[in-house]
Amino acid sequence: MTLTYIYLLCISIFILSLRLMSSPKTAVQGGILSILGMCIAIFFDFFPLPQNALYIIITLTLGGIVGIFFGYTAKITKLPQMIAMFNGLGGCAAVFIAFGETDIFPECSAAIPLGCTIGSITFSGSLIAFLKLQEKIKIRIQKSNSIAATNFILFIITLSLGINFCLNNSFYNIIILALVAFVFGITIVLPVGGADMPIVISILNAFSGFASAAIGFAQENILMLAVGTIVGISGTILAYIMTKSMNTSVKNIFFQSKKLADTTLVGDKNAIAGSPRDAAFIMQNSQKVIIVPGFGMAAASAQHALKTMSDLLQNKFGVDVKYAIHPVAGRMPGHMNVLLAEADVDYKNVFAMEDINREFTTADVAYVIGANDITNPEAKNNPSSPLYGMPVLDVVSAKTIFFVKRSLGKGYSGAENPLFFAPNTYMLYGDAKKVTEEIDKYLEEESK
Ligand code: TAP
Repeated sequence: MTLTYIYLLCISIFILSLRLMSSPKTAVQGGILSILGMCIAIFFDFFPLPQNALYIIITLTLGGIVGIFFGYTAKITKLPQMIAMFNGLGGCAAVFIAFGETDIFPECSAAIPLGCTIGSITFSGSLIAFLKLQEKIKIRIQKSNSIAATNFILFIITLSLGINFCLNNSFYNIIILALVAFVFGITIVLPVGGADMPIVISILNAFSGFASAAIGFAQENILMLAVGTIVGISGTILAYIMTKSMNTSVKNIFFQSKKLADTTLVGDKNAIAGSPRDAAFIMQNSQKVIIVPGFGMAAASAQHALKTMSDLLQNKFGVDVKYAIHPVAGRMPGHMNVLLAEADVDYKNVFAMEDINREFTTADVAYVIGANDITNPEAKNNPSSPLYGMPVLDVVSAKTIFFVKRSLGKGYSGAENPLFFAPNTYMLYGDAKKVTEEIDKYLEEESK
């Protein structure tokens, strides 16, 4: 009975920590609180210590060391991969618990094969997502009728094995079920393109939660049931928000072949190259500058240089500086917000796309740093573009546009951005951090 109250306390802590994590200002407290909740849950789950306590302590210590190591060393641009691996391990854990439960109960609970199936799909699917994001798997299997037929057959086999397990509660049955579900996870995720992978990771995140919830249900463990459900529902909501922001759907991601980007190389069109000195001069004489950060800002870790630039423009030259954040800028939800918060950018100057898009018409400068797809006007105008339908930031309406990037290279979608060749666009070629630091240098000189 006491354990139930402790579990309820932990569930409340996890819900509160999620609430805190929803704002960059309180996210760190949220993280610390959830670690505390997890420590309390683990401690009381194993208390009083059983006979095989040594194995448990060794396993927890090893797992803890691996988690801390990856948490500290993973680069922020590689976070989707790390999350994929953690989801996969969650799914794998659910499978092993299902194996362990098989002989314990004389009667089978349908939740065990369900948890095992979802867990195994999550494990193999996450492994494929990880390898794809790491570019270790480069083959691209087109979504086709034969893939759909294979998936259907695997679904029927999985279902039959699940029902059969409920009838005979056999250990071999659950092992075969896990193996078939493992293959099913591979055939589902393998044909999905890299650009959709972060959404797939969110879906797998939801799956890992539902797998734990099913196992928690079978074990009558309310903590596992509640936390699994929270993870499942929040992963589902996140996947929904991402699909809406990218104007796609789960059906498109898994079952429809994607429009391929036009692979013709940038021809004889001329883009105008600008210099950091020009950019500093134009911006210091502007009234309003809107900064548009994208993946390249994260890759270059340019957020601190960017903060210095906006501080100088605001404080020394009286320029109104705002940040415009596209919902899928970078490679994961909230990617830019996290980086800007890390650089101590004042949150009142950071605006979501729908709140700032109209302001580009009154902006003197759009400073697009390491962003590409999220500004591409073809998303609105060209039905044959792979970006068509995705809402974009209207930088096209600003008087002057600076694109800070290393080349005329394409963005994640592989689509060419015609904005590079607009008469009011200046390309500032180079690494986002170095270019912005150069601008900072000129602004500092001018402000003396
Ligand atoms: P992208 O369209 O990928 O463009 C980033 C640009 O940054 C590239 O064109 C690259 O050009 C430049 N770059 C890379 N490293 C750089 C560096 N060190 N310095 C300067 N520039 C650098 O990024 P975006 O505009 O942020 O759009 C995000 C894309 O990811 C969208 O297509 C979106 O759909 C997709 N996506 C996002 C998410 C989430 S949740 N955020 C999820 C799935 C997919 P150069 O090579 O020329 O430098």
